[in-house]
Amino acid sequence: MSSSVLVTGGAGFIGSNFIHLLARTRKDWQVVNLDALTYAGNLENLTEIEKLPNYTFVHGDIRRPGDVARAFDACKSDAVSVVHFAAESHVDRSIESGLPFVETNVLGTQVLLDQSRARKVARFVHVSTDEVYGSLGEQGFFTETTPLEPNSPYSASKAASDMLVRAAVHTHGFPALTTRCSNNYGPYQFPEKLIPLMIANASEDKQVPVYGDGMNVRDWLYVEDHCEAILAVLERGRIGEVYNIGGHNEFPNLEIVRRVLRELGKPESLIRYVKDRPGHDRRYAIDAGKIERELGWRPRLTFEVALPLTVRWYQSQGEWLQRVRNGAYRDYYARQYGS
Ligand code: NAD
Ligand code: DAU
Repeated sequence: MSSSVLVTGGAGFIGSNFIHLLARTRKDWQVVNLDALTYAGNLENLTEIEKLPNYTFVHGDIRRPGDVARAFDACKSDAVSVVHFAAESHVDRSIESGLPFVETNVLGTQVLLDQSRARKVARFVHVSTDEVYGSLGEQGFFTETTPLEPNSPYSASKAASDMLVRAAVHTHGFPALTTRCSNNYGPYQFPEKLIPLMIANASEDKQVPVYGDGMNVRDWLYVEDHCEAILAVLERGRIGEVYNIGGHNEFPNLEIVRRVLRELGKPESLIRYVKDRPGHDRRYAIDAGKIERELGWRPRLTFEVALPLTVRWYQSQGEWLQRVRNGAYRDYYARQYGS
């Protein structure tokens, strides 16, 4: 076994896509997935993976040192790296209640950092977000040196975790790297986020809620492109550095919703303008020049190709979506792992 990767939050949207990527491209790596299975964790994202001999699932919480220790104990190689996805990730939920975000994103990250340092991990990739930079006006892009000005409890908790990672590098010489990516879309995204929610609702001829005037801009990246960027950072990134990841795919939300409806053959009359998100960031846009120059990473798929792919994926995975929406996915762990 050449190396082991401990993935936190591997049952979520991006984490499960990352594990699929490793299974396709790094077949000799051992993968240990530590996930608490919150509402966002879905082991049905990994049904093909769980049969692989070099994959282990550990049901545990990054806030608990004992759970993190169990996950490290499951790693067989001496060279262990960590890719840290586990987080509370939904802005609207953080507006309802910020505490779970501080507990997992801040406290949980510090627990993971302490345990990882004690285990002398080879590398630690902290998966963060462009939202830590706050909101842009009409012009400009976030670079890695843009000051952090988070505006939601979610982004504030992620910015705090970024600072803890930075402090571990600076104080302890800890081998961490941080990535900050823009909005992802693609298979296995929980249908509380814009694109899968629009697909799920419109497929059932239900209304699709657009916040405010629908003109907030996001920079969309297909999830597999994000995962390839994380892998490049894990393997070739410079320790202590931050890498922005994005696709130069800026669209106002209304345009996204219209494209999804067109793709599904549904009428725009399904659009319903609703009350705006409090503190709603107006525009995000990423300058990904550093990762392109240093690591040669570039997104493979354009929005024109990957949005139809995504819509078709959800259409072909009706049962997956149904089980997420009716809550049946939450029984999977007990059925499969017997507790
Ligand atoms: P997600 O909500 O789909 O998945 C989060 C996963 O973490 C779930 O499997 C959940 O069970 C697990 N988890 C939550 N709390 C935990 C805890 N205390 N201990 C162990 N596991 C726990 O999130 P996602 O959209 O896949 O995002 C993954 C990471 O990428 C997050 O750190 C997020 O901030 C970041 N990110 C997301 C996006 C995006 O567009 N979704 C963009 C940039 C960065
Ligand atoms: O930018 C990266 C971030 O992208 C990640 O760090 C977060 O984890 C991820 O959730 C995402 O945050 P957003 O808040 O941008 O994503 P969301 O899908 O919730 O919303 C996208 C945009 O669409 C945002 O401007 C709000 C709007 N929206 C969202 C929903 C759910 C709507 O208009 N209607 C909706 O029903």
